[in-house]
Amino acid sequence: MVESLEDRVIPEEIREDAEARELALQAWEDIRRAANEAELEAIRVAYLGKKGKVTEILQRLKSLPAQERPQAGKVGNSLKKLLEEWLGEKRTSLERVLTEKTLREELFDISLPGRYLPRGRRHLISRTMEEIEDVFLGLGYEIVEGPEAELDYYNFQALNFPEDHPSKSMQDTFFIHREGIPLGEVILRTHTSPVQVRVMESRKPPLFVISPGKCYRSDVPDATHSPMFHQVEGFAVDQGITFGDLKGTLEYFARAIFGEERQVRFRPHFFPFTEPSAEVDVSCFICEGEGCRICKYTGWLEILGSGMIDPQVFSYVGYDPERYSGFAFGMGVERIAMLKHGIPDLRFNFENDLRFLTQF
Ligand code: PHE
Repeated sequence: MVESLEDRVIPEEIREDAEARELALQAWEDIRRAANEAELEAIRVAYLGKKGKVTEILQRLKSLPAQERPQAGKVGNSLKKLLEEWLGEKRTSLERVLTEKTLREELFDISLPGRYLPRGRRHLISRTMEEIEDVFLGLGYEIVEGPEAELDYYNFQALNFPEDHPSKSMQDTFFIHREGIPLGEVILRTHTSPVQVRVMESRKPPLFVISPGKCYRSDVPDATHSPMFHQVEGFAVDQGITFGDLKGTLEYFARAIFGEERQVRFRPHFFPFTEPSAEVDVSCFICEGEGCRICKYTGWLEILGSGMIDPQVFSYVGYDPERYSGFAFGMGVERIAMLKHGIPDLRFNFENDLRFLTQF
Protein backbone atom coordinates (compact mmCIF):
# COMPACT_ATOMS: atom_id res chain seq x y z
CA MET A 1 0.00 0.00 0.00
CA VAL A 2 1.32 3.40 -0.89
CA GLU A 3 1.72 5.11 2.42
CA SER A 4 1.45 8.74 1.43
CA LEU A 5 -1.78 10.37 0.47
CA GLU A 6 0.00 12.76 -1.87
CA ASP A 7 0.65 9.92 -4.24
CA ARG A 8 -3.00 9.07 -4.43
CA VAL A 9 -5.56 10.39 -6.83
CA ILE A 10 -8.66 11.44 -4.97
CA PRO A 11 -11.48 11.97 -7.44
CA GLU A 12 -12.46 15.56 -8.04
CA GLU A 13 -16.05 15.22 -6.79
CA ILE A 14 -14.73 14.16 -3.39
CA ARG A 15 -12.07 16.85 -3.22
CA GLU A 16 -14.71 19.51 -3.91
CA ASP A 17 -17.18 18.30 -1.29
CA ALA A 18 -16.06 19.38 2.17
CA GLU A 19 -17.77 16.58 4.08
CA ALA A 20 -16.68 13.84 1.70
CA ARG A 21 -13.13 15.15 1.62
CA GLU A 22 -12.97 15.18 5.39
CA LEU A 23 -14.30 11.60 5.54
CA ALA A 24 -11.83 10.37 2.94
CA LEU A 25 -8.87 11.88 4.81
CA GLN A 26 -10.08 10.43 8.08
CA ALA A 27 -10.60 6.99 6.51
CA TRP A 28 -7.14 7.07 4.95
CA GLU A 29 -5.63 7.76 8.32
CA ASP A 30 -7.63 4.97 9.99
CA ILE A 31 -6.82 2.44 7.32
CA ARG A 32 -3.15 3.30 7.38
CA ARG A 33 -2.99 2.70 11.13
CA ALA A 34 -4.84 -0.64 11.11
CA ALA A 35 -2.40 -3.22 12.48
CA ASN A 36 -4.31 -6.40 11.69
CA GLU A 37 -7.31 -7.92 9.95
CA ALA A 38 -9.63 -7.37 12.91
CA GLU A 39 -8.88 -3.69 13.16
CA LEU A 40 -9.29 -3.30 9.43
CA GLU A 41 -12.65 -5.02 9.56
CA ALA A 42 -13.80 -2.68 12.34
CA ILE A 43 -12.84 0.26 10.15
CA ARG A 44 -14.73 -1.16 7.20
CA VAL A 45 -17.82 -1.51 9.39
CA ALA A 46 -17.43 2.04 10.70
CA TYR A 47 -17.48 3.45 7.16
CA LEU A 48 -19.24 0.98 4.92
CA GLY A 49 -21.24 -1.15 7.38
CA LYS A 50 -25.02 -0.89 7.77
CA LYS A 51 -24.65 2.15 10.02
CA GLY A 52 -21.34 3.31 8.61
CA LYS A 53 -20.54 6.92 7.85
CA VAL A 54 -20.55 6.49 4.06
CA THR A 55 -23.66 4.35 4.14
CA GLU A 56 -25.35 7.13 6.07
CA ILE A 57 -24.51 9.66 3.36
CA LEU A 58 -25.97 7.36 0.72
CA GLN A 59 -29.12 6.83 2.75
CA ARG A 60 -29.54 10.55 3.23
CA LEU A 61 -29.95 10.96 -0.56
CA LYS A 62 -33.62 10.10 -0.40
CA SER A 63 -34.42 13.13 1.70
CA LEU A 64 -32.53 15.59 -0.53
CA PRO A 65 -34.30 17.89 -3.02
CA ALA A 66 -34.43 16.24 -6.43
CA GLN A 67 -31.99 18.64 -8.13
CA GLU A 68 -29.24 17.98 -5.53
CA ARG A 69 -29.56 14.22 -5.64
CA PRO A 70 -27.47 13.35 -8.74
CA GLN A 71 -24.38 15.23 -7.57
CA ALA A 72 -24.67 14.02 -3.98
CA GLY A 73 -25.18 10.48 -5.24
CA LYS A 74 -22.09 10.70 -7.39
CA VAL A 75 -20.02 11.88 -4.41
CA GLY A 76 -21.36 9.17 -2.12
CA ASN A 77 -20.74 6.36 -4.58
CA SER A 78 -17.34 7.60 -5.49
CA LEU A 79 -16.41 7.74 -1.80
CA LYS A 80 -17.64 4.22 -1.28
CA LYS A 81 -15.62 2.96 -4.21
CA LEU A 82 -12.50 4.74 -3.04
CA LEU A 83 -12.69 3.31 0.47
CA GLU A 84 -13.30 -0.20 -0.84
CA GLU A 85 -10.20 0.16 -2.95
CA TRP A 86 -8.04 1.31 -0.02
CA LEU A 87 -9.41 -1.38 2.27
CA GLY A 88 -8.64 -4.03 -0.34
CA GLU A 89 -5.08 -2.84 -0.78
CA LYS A 90 -4.49 -2.71 2.93
CA ARG A 91 -5.89 -6.22 3.38
CA THR A 92 -3.49 -7.59 0.78
CA SER A 93 -0.57 -5.88 2.41
CA LEU A 94 -1.53 -7.16 5.89
CA GLU A 95 -1.73 -10.70 4.53
CA ARG A 96 1.67 -10.41 2.96
CA VAL A 97 3.23 -9.16 6.17
CA LEU A 98 1.64 -12.05 8.06
CA THR A 99 2.92 -14.64 5.59
CA GLU A 100 6.41 -13.24 5.74
CA LYS A 101 6.31 -13.29 9.53
CA THR A 102 5.10 -16.91 9.57
CA LEU A 103 7.78 -17.96 7.14
CA ARG A 104 10.42 -16.30 9.26
CA GLU A 105 9.26 -17.62 12.61
CA GLU A 106 7.89 -21.07 11.89
CA LEU A 107 10.88 -22.54 10.25
CA PHE A 108 10.64 -26.36 10.34
CA ASP A 109 12.66 -29.22 9.02
CA ILE A 110 10.74 -30.88 6.22
CA SER A 111 13.30 -33.68 6.06
CA LEU A 112 12.35 -35.04 9.51
CA PRO A 113 10.64 -38.45 9.26
CA GLY A 114 6.85 -38.37 9.68
CA ARG A 115 4.86 -40.04 12.40
CA TYR A 116 3.89 -43.68 11.74
CA LEU A 117 0.13 -44.08 11.31
CA PRO A 118 -0.99 -47.70 11.32
CA ARG A 119 -3.17 -48.28 8.29
CA GLY A 120 -6.02 -50.79 8.27
CA ARG A 121 -6.88 -53.00 5.33
CA ARG A 122 -9.54 -55.50 4.33
CA HIS A 123 -8.98 -59.06 5.49
CA LEU A 124 -7.55 -61.45 2.91
CA ILE A 125 -10.71 -63.58 3.04
CA SER A 126 -13.01 -60.60 2.44
CA ARG A 127 -10.83 -59.48 -0.43
CA THR A 128 -10.70 -62.93 -2.00
CA MET A 129 -14.46 -63.22 -1.70
CA GLU A 130 -14.87 -59.88 -3.47
CA GLU A 131 -12.46 -60.93 -6.19
CA ILE A 132 -14.57 -64.04 -6.83
CA GLU A 133 -17.78 -61.99 -6.74
CA ASP A 134 -16.36 -59.49 -9.22
CA VAL A 135 -15.70 -62.19 -11.82
CA PHE A 136 -19.34 -63.28 -11.73
CA LEU A 137 -20.78 -59.77 -11.42
CA GLY A 138 -18.90 -59.12 -14.65
CA LEU A 139 -20.79 -62.04 -16.21
CA GLY A 140 -24.12 -60.57 -15.17
CA TYR A 141 -24.73 -62.64 -12.04
CA GLU A 142 -26.43 -61.09 -9.03
CA ILE A 143 -25.55 -61.60 -5.35
CA VAL A 144 -28.11 -63.12 -2.98
CA GLU A 145 -27.32 -64.02 0.61
CA GLY A 146 -28.99 -66.60 2.84
CA PRO A 147 -29.17 -67.33 6.58
CA GLU A 148 -26.34 -69.03 8.48
CA ALA A 149 -28.76 -70.68 10.91
CA GLU A 150 -30.61 -72.81 8.40
CA LEU A 151 -33.38 -75.38 8.30
CA ASP A 152 -32.40 -79.00 7.75
CA TYR A 153 -34.90 -78.86 4.91
CA TYR A 154 -32.87 -76.36 2.87
CA ASN A 155 -29.43 -77.57 3.88
CA PHE A 156 -30.07 -81.29 3.26
CA GLN A 157 -33.53 -82.50 2.36
CA ALA A 158 -34.37 -80.29 -0.62
CA LEU A 159 -30.81 -80.82 -1.86
CA ASN A 160 -31.56 -84.52 -2.15
CA PHE A 161 -29.45 -85.74 0.77
CA PRO A 162 -30.83 -89.06 1.97
CA GLU A 163 -32.28 -89.01 5.49
CA ASP A 164 -29.40 -91.11 6.82
CA HIS A 165 -26.55 -89.28 5.07
CA PRO A 166 -23.43 -89.28 7.31
CA SER A 167 -22.92 -85.52 6.98
CA LYS A 168 -26.19 -85.05 8.87
CA SER A 169 -24.65 -86.63 11.96
CA MET A 170 -23.69 -84.74 15.13
CA GLN A 171 -20.04 -85.25 14.28
CA ASP A 172 -20.28 -83.22 11.14
CA THR A 173 -23.04 -80.68 11.67
CA PHE A 174 -23.72 -78.13 14.40
CA PHE A 175 -27.28 -78.43 15.66
CA ILE A 176 -29.13 -75.53 17.21
CA HIS A 177 -30.90 -76.39 20.46
CA ARG A 178 -33.88 -74.20 21.23
CA GLU A 179 -36.90 -74.89 23.31
CA GLY A 180 -39.90 -75.43 21.09
CA ILE A 181 -37.84 -76.42 18.04
CA PRO A 182 -37.48 -80.16 17.42
CA LEU A 183 -33.81 -81.19 17.57
CA GLY A 184 -32.38 -81.48 14.08
CA GLU A 185 -34.70 -78.99 12.47
CA VAL A 186 -32.38 -75.99 12.70
CA ILE A 187 -28.64 -76.27 12.11
CA LEU A 188 -25.72 -74.05 11.14
CA ARG A 189 -25.51 -74.41 7.38
CA THR A 190 -22.71 -76.72 6.29
CA HIS A 191 -22.47 -75.16 2.82
CA THR A 192 -23.99 -72.28 0.84
CA SER A 193 -26.02 -74.58 -1.43
CA PRO A 194 -29.27 -74.10 0.56
CA VAL A 195 -29.41 -70.58 -0.93
CA GLN A 196 -29.99 -72.26 -4.33
CA VAL A 197 -33.21 -73.76 -3.01
CA ARG A 198 -34.32 -70.58 -1.26
CA VAL A 199 -33.87 -68.50 -4.40
CA MET A 200 -35.44 -71.01 -6.80
CA GLU A 201 -38.37 -71.52 -4.46
CA SER A 202 -39.23 -67.83 -4.44
CA ARG A 203 -38.43 -66.88 -8.04
CA LYS A 204 -38.68 -68.08 -11.62
CA PRO A 205 -35.83 -68.60 -14.13
CA PRO A 206 -33.77 -67.15 -15.68
CA LEU A 207 -31.56 -67.04 -12.59
CA PHE A 208 -27.87 -66.22 -12.50
CA VAL A 209 -26.93 -65.95 -8.84
CA ILE A 210 -23.88 -66.11 -6.61
CA SER A 211 -24.11 -66.41 -2.88
CA PRO A 212 -21.11 -65.75 -0.63
CA GLY A 213 -21.11 -66.43 3.08
CA LYS A 214 -20.05 -68.29 6.20
CA CYS A 215 -20.47 -72.04 6.66
CA TYR A 216 -19.96 -74.28 9.68
CA ARG A 217 -18.86 -77.85 10.18
CA SER A 218 -18.13 -79.62 13.41
CA ASP A 219 -14.43 -80.06 12.66
CA VAL A 220 -11.45 -79.76 14.97
CA PRO A 221 -9.24 -76.94 13.64
CA ASP A 222 -6.09 -78.05 11.87
CA ALA A 223 -4.10 -76.96 8.83
CA THR A 224 -6.98 -77.77 6.47
CA HIS A 225 -10.09 -77.72 8.68
CA SER A 226 -11.97 -75.01 10.53
CA PRO A 227 -15.37 -75.09 12.26
CA MET A 228 -16.19 -71.84 10.42
CA PHE A 229 -15.17 -71.08 6.87
CA HIS A 230 -16.46 -69.25 3.81
CA GLN A 231 -17.92 -70.40 0.53
CA VAL A 232 -19.11 -68.77 -2.64
CA GLU A 233 -22.00 -70.61 -4.25
CA GLY A 234 -23.15 -69.98 -7.78
CA PHE A 235 -25.88 -71.27 -10.02
CA ALA A 236 -27.59 -70.60 -13.32
CA VAL A 237 -31.04 -71.81 -14.31
CA ASP A 238 -32.76 -71.16 -17.62
CA GLN A 239 -34.06 -73.01 -20.65
CA GLY A 240 -31.35 -74.83 -22.55
CA ILE A 241 -28.47 -74.55 -20.08
CA THR A 242 -25.94 -77.30 -20.77
CA PHE A 243 -22.84 -78.87 -19.29
CA GLY A 244 -20.97 -76.89 -21.94
CA ASP A 245 -22.17 -73.67 -20.28
CA LEU A 246 -20.92 -74.95 -16.94
CA LYS A 247 -17.51 -75.76 -18.43
CA GLY A 248 -17.19 -72.45 -20.23
CA THR A 249 -18.21 -70.44 -17.19
CA LEU A 250 -15.91 -72.21 -14.76
CA GLU A 251 -12.94 -72.24 -17.13
CA TYR A 252 -13.36 -68.51 -17.53
CA PHE A 253 -13.59 -68.11 -13.77
CA ALA A 254 -10.54 -70.27 -13.04
CA ARG A 255 -8.39 -68.29 -15.47
CA ALA A 256 -9.67 -64.95 -14.17
CA ILE A 257 -8.59 -65.87 -10.64
CA PHE A 258 -5.49 -68.03 -11.20
CA GLY A 259 -4.11 -66.65 -14.47
CA GLU A 260 -4.81 -66.86 -18.19
CA GLU A 261 -2.22 -69.59 -18.72
CA ARG A 262 -3.99 -72.10 -16.42
CA GLN A 263 -5.15 -75.45 -17.72
CA VAL A 264 -8.55 -76.44 -16.35
CA ARG A 265 -9.85 -79.99 -16.00
CA PHE A 266 -13.17 -81.47 -14.93
CA ARG A 267 -13.03 -84.64 -12.86
CA PRO A 268 -16.18 -86.77 -12.33
CA HIS A 269 -17.45 -86.59 -8.78
CA PHE A 270 -20.63 -87.01 -6.76
CA PHE A 271 -22.93 -84.55 -4.99
CA PRO A 272 -26.51 -85.47 -4.05
CA PHE A 273 -27.88 -82.26 -5.62
CA THR A 274 -26.08 -82.32 -8.99
CA GLU A 275 -26.00 -84.90 -11.75
CA PRO A 276 -23.61 -85.26 -13.43
CA SER A 277 -21.15 -83.70 -10.98
CA ALA A 278 -17.57 -82.64 -11.43
CA GLU A 279 -14.73 -81.27 -9.40
CA VAL A 280 -12.67 -78.61 -11.11
CA ASP A 281 -8.88 -78.53 -11.00
CA VAL A 282 -6.45 -75.93 -12.31
CA SER A 283 -2.91 -76.75 -13.33
CA CYS A 284 -0.55 -76.02 -10.44
CA PHE A 285 0.84 -72.52 -10.86
CA ILE A 286 3.63 -73.15 -8.38
CA CYS A 287 5.34 -75.95 -10.31
CA GLU A 288 3.61 -75.53 -13.68
CA GLY A 289 2.57 -79.18 -13.55
CA GLU A 290 5.98 -80.56 -12.61
CA GLY A 291 4.75 -81.71 -9.21
CA CYS A 292 5.34 -79.95 -5.89
CA ARG A 293 4.28 -79.91 -2.24
CA ILE A 294 1.31 -77.58 -2.85
CA CYS A 295 -0.28 -79.82 -5.53
CA LYS A 296 0.83 -82.95 -3.67
CA TYR A 297 2.89 -83.94 -6.71
CA THR A 298 -0.16 -84.28 -8.96
CA GLY A 299 0.36 -81.09 -10.98
CA TRP A 300 -3.28 -80.14 -10.29
CA LEU A 301 -5.09 -78.09 -7.65
CA GLU A 302 -8.72 -78.76 -6.85
CA ILE A 303 -10.64 -75.48 -6.62
CA LEU A 304 -14.36 -76.23 -6.58
CA GLY A 305 -17.29 -78.63 -6.84
CA SER A 306 -19.93 -78.33 -9.52
CA GLY A 307 -22.56 -80.08 -11.60
CA MET A 308 -25.87 -79.90 -13.40
CA ILE A 309 -28.69 -79.27 -10.92
CA ASP A 310 -30.42 -82.58 -10.18
CA PRO A 311 -34.03 -82.80 -11.45
CA GLN A 312 -34.89 -84.00 -7.96
CA VAL A 313 -33.97 -80.54 -6.61
CA PHE A 314 -36.16 -78.91 -9.26
CA SER A 315 -39.07 -81.00 -8.06
CA TYR A 316 -38.69 -79.51 -4.54
CA VAL A 317 -38.96 -75.97 -5.87
CA GLY A 318 -41.70 -76.71 -8.40
CA TYR A 319 -39.65 -76.26 -11.59
CA ASP A 320 -40.42 -78.45 -14.59
CA PRO A 321 -37.16 -80.35 -15.30
CA GLU A 322 -38.32 -80.89 -18.89
CA ARG A 323 -38.40 -77.15 -19.38
CA TYR A 324 -35.52 -75.88 -17.29
CA SER A 325 -31.95 -76.96 -16.68
CA GLY A 326 -29.12 -75.40 -14.75
CA PHE A 327 -25.69 -75.78 -13.27
CA ALA A 328 -24.32 -75.02 -9.83
CA PHE A 329 -20.93 -74.72 -8.24
CA GLY A 330 -19.48 -74.03 -4.83
CA MET A 331 -16.00 -73.19 -3.64
CA GLY A 332 -14.16 -72.64 -0.38
CA VAL A 333 -12.87 -69.09 -0.13
CA GLU A 334 -10.07 -69.93 2.32
CA ARG A 335 -8.90 -72.67 -0.01
CA ILE A 336 -8.82 -70.33 -3.01
CA ALA A 337 -6.92 -67.70 -0.99
CA MET A 338 -4.45 -70.27 0.36
CA LEU A 339 -3.73 -71.70 -3.08
CA LYS A 340 -3.37 -68.28 -4.61
CA HIS A 341 -1.00 -66.96 -1.96
CA GLY A 342 0.76 -70.18 -0.92
CA ILE A 343 -0.57 -70.10 2.65
CA PRO A 344 0.32 -73.38 4.37
CA ASP A 345 -2.14 -73.37 7.28
CA LEU A 346 -5.85 -72.49 7.26
CA ARG A 347 -5.67 -71.24 10.85
CA PHE A 348 -3.57 -68.22 9.85
CA ASN A 349 -6.76 -66.81 8.38
CA PHE A 350 -8.48 -66.66 11.75
CA GLU A 351 -5.72 -65.80 14.22
CA ASN A 352 -5.54 -62.06 13.54
CA ASP A 353 -1.77 -62.06 13.68
CA LEU A 354 -0.71 -58.77 12.09
CA ARG A 355 2.52 -60.32 10.80
CA PHE A 356 0.31 -62.52 8.64
CA LEU A 357 -2.51 -60.10 7.84
CA THR A 358 -0.26 -57.27 6.68
CA GLN A 359 1.37 -59.43 4.01
CA PHE A 360 -1.70 -59.14 1.81
N1 PHE B 1 -21.96 -77.56 -1.61
C1 PHE B 1 -20.82 -78.33 -2.10
C2 PHE B 1 -19.80 -78.44 -0.98
O1 PHE B 1 -19.91 -77.77 0.02
C3 PHE B 1 -20.20 -77.69 -3.30
C4 PHE B 1 -21.10 -77.69 -4.51
C5 PHE B 1 -21.94 -76.64 -4.76
C6 PHE B 1 -21.08 -78.74 -5.41
C7 PHE B 1 -22.76 -76.64 -5.87
C8 PHE B 1 -21.87 -78.77 -6.51
C9 PHE B 1 -22.72 -77.69 -6.76
O2 PHE B 1 -18.85 -79.21 -1.08
